[in-house]
Amino acid sequence: MAFPTETVYGLGADALNLDAVKKVFEAKGRPGDNPLIVHIASSKQLDDIVDEMPEKGKLLAEAFWPGPLTLVVKRTILISDLVTANLDTVAVRMPNHPVPLAMIQALGEGIVGPSANLSGRPSPTTAQHVYDDLRGSVDLILDAGPAAIGLESTVVDVTAEPPAILRLGGLTRERIEELIGSVEVQVGIDRAKRSPGTRHRHYAPRARVLLVKSGDVENFARVLQEQRQHGKRVGCVVNSSLLAKVESGQYFRVLPTSLDILARYLFRTLRELDALGLDVIIVEGVPEEGLGATIMDRLRRASEP
Ligand code: TXA
Ligand code: MG
Repeated sequence: MAFPTETVYGLGADALNLDAVKKVFEAKGRPGDNPLIVHIASSKQLDDIVDEMPEKGKLLAEAFWPGPLTLVVKRTILISDLVTANLDTVAVRMPNHPVPLAMIQALGEGIVGPSANLSGRPSPTTAQHVYDDLRGSVDLILDAGPAAIGLESTVVDVTAEPPAILRLGGLTRERIEELIGSVEVQVGIDRAKRSPGTRHRHYAPRARVLLVKSGDVENFARVLQEQRQHGKRVGCVVNSSLLAKVESGQYFRVLPTSLDILARYLFRTLRELDALGLDVIIVEGVPEEGLGATIMDRLRRASEP
């Protein structure tokens, strides 16, 4: 069943029940080579799942769990190859939301929880998004309102030294580095091996996404005009006061410049515009620091041809 978290909605199943785990892959249309995150509710549960927790992993877990952080660690034999896509590591996260924490406690075991979208689509930040994507293929959707963060967790491989960020997410690189020193960011390189899920086109609406630089009014206006001249139905998502002045109307959305709030509304806005049947969505980028780095990562992937 689908459940809320502070990042995005997840599709849950008992991590030790392989039939249930198989159904999660089926419902999402997810390739079998893309491993799942095991969600836990207390650090005690790590003993069954994790073979060895490195010192920096412990520090991160203490500081940021429950929260938008996923740790990649060496796994025990209790965790099936199906969950980890045959890797010798497992991804673990303790969500900061009372619903999954209660579910896990009641079950007494970890639950797998990929984002509850169809593979390749933007992650769901409301129960309605889950319904739109997975209606008919999940038994139950728990609705706890919109997700507070609106972007997925940050995935950190702590088996490497220095640790490596495999997916930028709701916990910023800056906060991680304040605690454990410098980390590598490997979201673009060697993706095929490291974090299979980030390899595929991702986070993408059906409409084509075109990305323009933050505050670049000239380029924005030019791209907009070009697309219209080609007969395209064009929507826009902007955030700076400069671009907000260019147009208005149903297909034109202005998000706040505050990155926390922009993040919360980003996937939702892309889905809403997509539902209007547009051909193209032009999106204004953001400065690449803090959560801005995560937002730009998602926008770049969404705009991959
Ligand atoms: O915020 C989140 O993390 C959400 C909520 C529901 O918890 N879940 C989520 O799961 O985003 P999913 O499956 O959509 O993304 C998990 C990412 C994928 O990119 C996957 O490839 C990577 O984590 N991953 C999982 N296990 C891994 C492993 N053992 N090694 C490297 N990457 C792994
Ligand atoms: Mg996902």
